[in-house]
Amino acid sequence: MRGFFITFEGIEGSGKSTVARRIDRLLRDEGVDPLLTREPGGTVISEDIRGILLDPDRVEISAKTELLLYLASRAQLVAEVILPAVNNGRIVLCDRYMDATMAYQGWARGLGEDLVRDFNSFAVGPALPDLTFLFDLSVSEGFRRGPDKRESSGIQSRDRLESEDIFFHEKVREGYLRIAETEKKRVMTIDASLPLDSVVETIFRNIKSRIDVQSYRG
Ligand code: TMP
Repeated sequence: MRGFFITFEGIEGSGKSTVARRIDRLLRDEGVDPLLTREPGGTVISEDIRGILLDPDRVEISAKTELLLYLASRAQLVAEVILPAVNNGRIVLCDRYMDATMAYQGWARGLGEDLVRDFNSFAVGPALPDLTFLFDLSVSEGFRRGPDKRESSGIQSRDRLESEDIFFHEKVREGYLRIAETEKKRVMTIDASLPLDSVVETIFRNIKSRIDVQSYRG
């Protein structure tokens, strides 16, 4: 049986990483063994690339280099982790994926939607998400909250992308909403201003309405 591939997307501070971890735990409570991973990262090579991409001192990275590094990180994650897991019938949960490249590099950096679509397709091949949750939130609220990884890791400094100004992040949000508008079947927009528990409940209910979770038990 082919697995089921779910991605979590949204602007900084939207709570998607925390929710992805909660969904992972809920699936485990049901006897399922999902694979939770993140982008950029998730393999040794991809985590190395993440280090370059998010280093606040690497301000000289050009927009094209940035795009290619995200894609390189993704191609490795797909080959090493995502495709083998999906082909093995597992539920895969990925914190950010190809929509992030469309929103951040294609739309906010202005590299263009057609180009990013083609490059994304080259990087992922058949590993397309079955379902995507887009955590929508105002940029000011996202800034106020700060990324949830900071809460869990205790890291206080902003990474290179978080250091972009509010206009950049407004464009990112706009880019994400455009994707949701054009891909209504795959992308479910979530009101991320709602309490965390209710967001988790909505998402878990939605997953269960689309797949028979029990059939993914090991
Ligand atoms: P994270 O903080 O959610 O782990 O994501 C790392 C940063 O990288 C975040 O600011 C979003 C950004 N990003 C892109 O710009 N393009 C991409 O393709 C991905 C996956 C992330």
